[in-house]
Amino acid sequence: MTQATARAYPNIALVKYWGKANEDLILPAAGSMSMTLDDFATTTTVTLDETDSFSLNGAEQGEAGASRVIAFLDLVRNFARTAGLDTADQNARVVSVNEGPTAAGMASSASGFAALAVAASSAYGLELSIRDLSRLARRGSGSASRSLVDRFAVWHAGDDQSSYAEEIPAPDMAMIAVPVATGQKAVSSRKGMVATATTSPFYPAWVTSTEEILKEMIGACKDSDFTLVGEIAETHAMRMHAVIAASRPSIRYLSPTSLEVFDRIAQLRADGIETYGTADAGPNVFAITRPEHAEVVSERLRDLTKDGEAKVLRPGRGAHLVGDDAL
Ligand code: DP6
Repeated sequence: MTQATARAYPNIALVKYWGKANEDLILPAAGSMSMTLDDFATTTTVTLDETDSFSLNGAEQGEAGASRVIAFLDLVRNFARTAGLDTADQNARVVSVNEGPTAAGMASSASGFAALAVAASSAYGLELSIRDLSRLARRGSGSASRSLVDRFAVWHAGDDQSSYAEEIPAPDMAMIAVPVATGQKAVSSRKGMVATATTSPFYPAWVTSTEEILKEMIGACKDSDFTLVGEIAETHAMRMHAVIAASRPSIRYLSPTSLEVFDRIAQLRADGIETYGTADAGPNVFAITRPEHAEVVSERLRDLTKDGEAKVLRPGRGAHLVGDDAL
């Protein structure tokens, strides 16, 4: 029996991905940049088996819950077939455990597909480079391509060959997760992107300005200019929420409490504690700050969280094999 276990962390984009150039291959309309976290891991074991099945956090998933995972296994099997491996015709059991709150929009699809890409390719006997694993993870969920990479990643726009993520140098920083309570039913990223691209009149400007801002971000990271990194990240997050809000019908991911968190972050800056905010397709906010200010920022944002906890996160490791398979 062939089996492999992998571990991956979510990543939070500081230059956001929102919109695809190709839906099937999951090619982004523009490049993006992120920090891989050091907490909220997904650990996934893939074991070649009689049938395909998927268990998430101890719950056996039905057809709907398993469909994206099984489609991904089909992709891995196609690669195995092309490589002439006799594993190509075998099914697999996938067992995943998320340490982060899956439903709370903590980028669990990024860690999930990054861990699955590493575990499944190994279980099926494929030997892939980090670059090819990033390209593979991309096919599960675009942002997963970035979770293959240690610390800070740029995911390139391009074609199937050239659209992968790679590590870039960046100033050291901490990220504070600010999970916010909400009654709102979120539109999935996948659906929200299509709605934005097809109905938001600002979408073309969003794509071109993202390419420009990504270049500026890469330069700021290279220069270790935390202030510029933070300003770009917060501005770009707000631009993403603006282009989304201009969809018809309008889509809104931020809640009133999310905006309170952004106000509090601005107050922290006014008090001389340099902090910037970002938020994905949900109401949770992530604050970035210099490592020495992480504890005070967490303390100042805690009362706005749903459980009174604002966790301090640091740059983490890209997806990797664990256990005997890692030897
Ligand atoms: C707002 O990677 O979840 O978090 O490629 O359709 O699976 P699919 O989308 P996904 O979108 C992430 C969007 C975002 C911004 C980002 O992570 O860059």
